[in-house]
Amino acid sequence: LAEKRRGGILKRTILFNPGPGTTSETVKRALLVPDICPREKEFQEVISEVRAGITKVVNGQDNFSSVLFAGSGTAAMEACIASCIRPSTKVLIINNGAYGKRFVQIANTYKLPVVELEFPSTETPNLSLLEKTLSDDKNISTVVVVHHETTTGILNPAKEIGAISKKLGRTVIVDAMSSFGGIPIDAQTFNADFIISSSNKCLHGMAGIAFVVCRKSALLDLKASDGRSYYLNIREQFDCLEKTGQTQFTPPVQILYALRQALREFFEEGQEARYQRYTENWNQLRQGMKALGFKPLLQDQIESKVLMTLYEPSHPKFDFNKFHDRLFTEGFTIYPGKIHSADTFRLAIIGELSSKDIGAFLKQVEVVGKEMGFLQAGAP
Ligand SMILES: Cc1ncc(COP(=O)(O)O)c(C=O)c1O
Repeated sequence: LAEKRRGGILKRTILFNPGPGTTSETVKRALLVPDICPREKEFQEVISEVRAGITKVVNGQDNFSSVLFAGSGTAAMEACIASCIRPSTKVLIINNGAYGKRFVQIANTYKLPVVELEFPSTETPNLSLLEKTLSDDKNISTVVVVHHETTTGILNPAKEIGAISKKLGRTVIVDAMSSFGGIPIDAQTFNADFIISSSNKCLHGMAGIAFVVCRKSALLDLKASDGRSYYLNIREQFDCLEKTGQTQFTPPVQILYALRQALREFFEEGQEARYQRYTENWNQLRQGMKALGFKPLLQDQIESKVLMTLYEPSHPKFDFNKFHDRLFTEGFTIYPGKIHSADTFRLAIIGELSSKDIGAFLKQVEVVGKEMGFLQAGAP
């Protein structure tokens, strides 16, 4: 399918950064539309198809609905913190990476009482500690967890975290930014009330739209007047979308056309097939990089299969920036690491990538590695 969507006149680049990823030619072309006023009925149909599509990706059915904002993914994180924590209650945030930490920073910005459960970035959260903390502190109303911590590639047990939290009567917010559409999520059993993502990760659209798939009962419990942000008010935006079919404020018009096309391509491929493609690409990349001597940071079984963190080789001839720049000139983009305890870099397989792309990349890594001198001439 990805092969079918190529064949364009635009240069095709292979992105291994964790989104925005390599998009199909057809998604790129969807940006080119006649100018249209976003208040027109024709455009409301685009918004309506996108909202329904986003909800359907996670099997939202009638008991879920989606709300979108113009902004990068962080806008949806902030919208949830600003809209979904009941007044005079605490939010418990699980932090085992940069995005868990970002939630803490956002909550601090809004001067909300936070209970932070911090864990090492290479380990999944301790569920017994979560259960005990929730049992001991009745004033915690809401639990926040990042599903796929893009910091390292760790896949947190969001469903289990949700189950414990729901059992104890809490609202659950899951940041599924870099898993939504890549890793199957069934909202009916996922135990989340608010699921966050954006247009430009595993949905393969362009950057510019942040969204939240909301359990309707939790959404209707929110009061617009309790919102702490004027712009990022989930209930206010939902009411406007439902009443008028429009967003409150100017939407990123062309980006929405591209997202509509990306969603159509998602459903054409199917969630299971996309997940399988991701898994196969991840396995091929993982095995290939290991064969070239690169060592992964995480154990295979806790990795998302969407992204991997690799240690930089300790060879004196290795220089990440040079390595990056040489690969970039060949059309491949790699991404720096985000942990402080070791020198690492990251490779994500988000996007319209095929086994052929992974093979071409591995070949190029070998060529560049030998040229730079950190891979032996005879290797692997
Ligand atoms: C898990 C997670 N949450 C939040 C974000 C923030 O999204 P953005 O950079 O689009 O604001 C990212 C970005 O990579 C992410 O991976």
